[in-house]
Amino acid sequence: MTTADARPREPKYYTVKRHLLERIESLTPGSAVPTERELAAELSTSRTTVRQALVDLVAEGRLVRRQGAGTFIAEPKVTWPLHLTSFTEAAALNGFAASTRLIAVTRIRGDAEVAGRLGLAAGAPVVRIERLRLADQRPMAVETSHLSASRFPNLTRNIRRHQSLYELLRIVYDVVPMRAEELIATAPASPREASLLGTETGAPMLVLGRHSRDADGEPVEWVTSWYRGDRVTFVADLSAPRR
Ligand code: GLP
Repeated sequence: MTTADARPREPKYYTVKRHLLERIESLTPGSAVPTERELAAELSTSRTTVRQALVDLVAEGRLVRRQGAGTFIAEPKVTWPLHLTSFTEAAALNGFAASTRLIAVTRIRGDAEVAGRLGLAAGAPVVRIERLRLADQRPMAVETSHLSASRFPNLTRNIRRHQSLYELLRIVYDVVPMRAEELIATAPASPREASLLGTETGAPMLVLGRHSRDADGEPVEWVTSWYRGDRVTFVADLSAPRR
């Protein structure tokens, strides 16, 4: 059996990062961080090393970079519950006001994956809704939802009148998602997501895929949500299985 090395060699930038973390702990959100040049001089290291440490801290959501203005201490992350609630309800549970910007709503022919998830044959009509989700006016996620066009007639029109998809499903179609499978993965932001979410291409994203069903087990939606990894911590309430 091999044993893991308890004290792996620490890269130089990591030492700088730990030092910066200690230093920024006492600073309040919004305060400016010294420039790369100042930090390099202060820590007797190169600007490249400082830059690498800062890139990590930005990716983790500790710092934010503002083009042309400098680097600042970030606002604390938002904790987001993982329940079978809507974005609107989850935001309210956190004390935020949710808002939605409809980016596009289109009727497509579902490919084998999307149609399959919705219990339809490949090529069946599917409504694809792309929305930007905001909490207290801050962009949090880009969400792409797929629903069966025949199960939800006039959805392309109705979604324009409702901020909340779940509210619309309940009021207009009498459908409530009761069970869901949620997949979580990480991915770098594409230029499109980055620009919609006000971040940089390649920034770490938390990607959630939700496949929900109603009380009869009929598929309701297949949704992919790209959340800014530097803004959100997901919290799941776990309980031990019955033995
Ligand atoms: C969350 C879920 C989505 C769901 C959405 C509905 O964001 N990940 O799967 O479609 O909530 O939210 P709302 O009713 O606010 O539109």
